[in-house]
Amino acid sequence: HHASFTLDPAFTVAPVNRRTFGGFVEHLGRCVYTGIYEPDHPTADADGFRRDVLDLTRELGVTTVRYPGGNFVSGYRWEDGVGPRDRRPVRRDLAWHSTETNEVGLDEFMRWSAKAGVEPMMAVNLGTRGVAEALDLLEYANHPKGTLLSDRRAANGTAEPHGITMWCLGNEMDGPWQVGHTTAREYGRLAGQTARAMRMAQPGLELVACGSSGSAMATFGAWEAGVLAECYDAVDAISLHAYYEEHDGDLASFLASGADMDRSIDAVTATADAVGARLGDRKRIRLSFDEWNVWYQSRHRAAAPREDWPTAPRLLEDHYHLADAVVVGGLLIALLRHSDRVTAACQAQLVNVIAPIMTEPGGRAWRQTVFHPFAETARAAKGEVLRVEPVAPVHPTARHGDVPVIDAVATRDAASGAAAVFVLNRSVDTAVALDVDVRGLGAERLVRCATLADADVYAVNTADEPDRVAPAANRTAELADGRLRAVLPPVSWTVVELA
Ligand code: AHR
Repeated sequence: HHASFTLDPAFTVAPVNRRTFGGFVEHLGRCVYTGIYEPDHPTADADGFRRDVLDLTRELGVTTVRYPGGNFVSGYRWEDGVGPRDRRPVRRDLAWHSTETNEVGLDEFMRWSAKAGVEPMMAVNLGTRGVAEALDLLEYANHPKGTLLSDRRAANGTAEPHGITMWCLGNEMDGPWQVGHTTAREYGRLAGQTARAMRMAQPGLELVACGSSGSAMATFGAWEAGVLAECYDAVDAISLHAYYEEHDGDLASFLASGADMDRSIDAVTATADAVGARLGDRKRIRLSFDEWNVWYQSRHRAAAPREDWPTAPRLLEDHYHLADAVVVGGLLIALLRHSDRVTAACQAQLVNVIAPIMTEPGGRAWRQTVFHPFAETARAAKGEVLRVEPVAPVHPTARHGDVPVIDAVATRDAASGAAAVFVLNRSVDTAVALDVDVRGLGAERLVRCATLADADVYAVNTADEPDRVAPAANRTAELADGRLRAVLPPVSWTVVELA
């Protein structure tokens, strides 16, 4: 196959939003306990955080981390997680049928965030709770001092306010599995009431209403319209969630997952704009894609329901292979392409639970295959996102229709002139000769071309072989006469950096 496109700095989408490279830490399985926090681990710091995980988190380049859930937040009492540890209650978490010890809560997470160098994205519980508890949490977290809850925070060891600006108004309230699941109108009303009250307490917050938990939900579209009809004036953004997996060996469809993400983003954008038009409101609602990843949800659903209430059990511990990593690279391409509307996104999740970082309790931490495209993109994508219109053969997929065999996006930093190109070859069996016209960029040098590919598309990284799958230099790449050329192997993701 041959594929080509032209890059021109005159044709931009929007600036790269740093929040596009978000992650997610939920009280779920081993994400918190034996993930970010394990006081007995050889690398644990004075706060009990695993230094090996902190190092990998920084290397991943994650910018914003959503917390504390997820489904977990819809039954969570934030007060359980603050104050002296020996007085924190042990509770049942209905979402994951687990026991929550509350050893880690808001103040610990904020301490971890500062060490990891990430901005928190905090979720309030609108499943079992409402306006009053969200206001209490906001007072505890952000009020400077001199009130009951801000003084309690200070007494608990954090004199300075946490200064959390981004807040999710509940989680997946469209899902029948969610504690407190309700209708779009009822949830939208509660989200609007909560948002307006939070703004009375503190201007300048960025508030995200729950959109659908997936584009396959029967209420997709209608849900967003119903929610926004109630809270359009009060919120800044609406959330999207999407998880992809390979179904029945259909690798071609799996590799085209980004096309579904594109369609979901376009559908939610159109729905939000339609509500705005109906209300005569010129404000544009932003999109927070605050859960996305590869997740073998079918395996999770097939597992027998739990009867016990374990603490930090092994849940949702997918071991990612090369093709999963290629798909993750493709999903990042889709997110970047929509940087004009998608202003935040979180790969779900960060450690152990469908995650780029895996750990063993007491043992190693390592990079899953999906770590690599995320880290490379977060590092290299800078400046403005450029428009890319690939000219490439189109191939059919069973789940996502016809898609061009390559998918691509590019960024350029005007200040330094550095550019980055991210390309996916979605063919399951054929290499692509790529030819990019980069004359407009004025690039002088090919800095780096690295490709993620493997003769075994199902190869994984393990504790014993942690670097089995990693990007390797692509020696076919060359920059000459204003053209960038490279051969992209089948089932591959490639990053090219120019200066
Ligand atoms: O990320 C795992 C779960 O997926 C989250 O808790 C929930 O919000 C979603 O259904």
